[in-house]
Amino acid sequence: MPSMSSGPDRLRVGIATPGGDAPGMNACLRSIVKASRVHTSPTIELVGFLDGALGLVRGRKKDIVRVDERLLADKLDRAGTVLRSARADSLRGILATPENILLIAADRIAATCLKQHIKGLVLIGGDTTCEAARLVSRATDGRVAIVVIPASIDNDVAGTSTTIGFDSAVEAAVASVDNIRQTAAALGRIFIVETMGAESGQIAAHVGLASGAEEVLVPEHGDYSEADLKELADRLRHRSEQTRSSLVIAAEGATFSSAVQTPTERAGSLLERLLRERMPHGTQIRTTILGHLQRGALPTATTRALAAEAGVLALDTVYDHCRRISRADSARAKARMVSLHPPAVALRDIPKTVRRRDRKEVLRLVALQTGRLSY
Ligand code: F6P
Repeated sequence: MPSMSSGPDRLRVGIATPGGDAPGMNACLRSIVKASRVHTSPTIELVGFLDGALGLVRGRKKDIVRVDERLLADKLDRAGTVLRSARADSLRGILATPENILLIAADRIAATCLKQHIKGLVLIGGDTTCEAARLVSRATDGRVAIVVIPASIDNDVAGTSTTIGFDSAVEAAVASVDNIRQTAAALGRIFIVETMGAESGQIAAHVGLASGAEEVLVPEHGDYSEADLKELADRLRHRSEQTRSSLVIAAEGATFSSAVQTPTERAGSLLERLLRERMPHGTQIRTTILGHLQRGALPTATTRALAAEAGVLALDTVYDHCRRISRADSARAKARMVSLHPPAVALRDIPKTVRRRDRKEVLRLVALQTGRLSY
């Protein structure tokens, strides 16, 4: 990486994709590269920090790559991220204090910006990235312009209707569930399909609705009680007696009050165990954990288009803020985020609470599919 610095003719803007990758991150990077070419006075030099927060915190020359057309060639349709990523947890290995890890990381990232002459930052990531953006902005006293593009398959970021990658993960999951439905129907079986989403039931609720699942279990419901399980088992038994198959979508974050989940036990497998204990011996139940098939999904056309819009808005905003800061000593920029409301995108402040909790919405989707109002 040739050493270059920001000057009157050149503005150095950093990019990173911290946290879990999401389909569409590469599409976003590609649109940022294209948008950067429009600006000529000053020109923009785009540099990518490898391995998410690790690269930003370390800030060494070898953590930085030039982000250009060559890096992104043929990546529009690829999930993952060419800049690679790392979980915030991996910072524990390189930061001395395990306490306030985000705060300490933010100070180190601010130092990296200074050392590497970074005037603006575009961060493509989830709720933790939003939190970190605010802290880095504070640590630089608003002298580095920062914009976050919300990206996560979980769709759990506050201040935006959706996140880059969510739609792609849902599409991939629905395609798998459609296949499972065929074999389930052939043998009249009960199929549990576990979807990702961490503590959010967004993926499960949307997949349940789109695939016509008979049952959908989500974390937003709260612990499923013994009575809930008994009712569920009764409904499934009734369908089995009629030799009809049943699809049960279980979000990985669904919880049960009548069982202790071991750290390695998946929610889908636990649900299978609980149902077996409550259903007639020999009931045919199978479980599929979709897992990372969702995160590695082909970015959909919707994801790609949204990523393109978000990338341009983020880059143009950072550019404007950088120019304002470089012109006046007293100028400061607050960390901002791109809010996604397909097909529109808008700029807004990062909300105080960065994790989106949308219990009502998720439960409404579940009720819409299963015909049972549970809120
Ligand atoms: O990035 C979001 C997510 O895919 C969640 O849905 C899931 O719980 C988690 O990441 C899995 O993380 P990892 O791949 O680090 O095990």
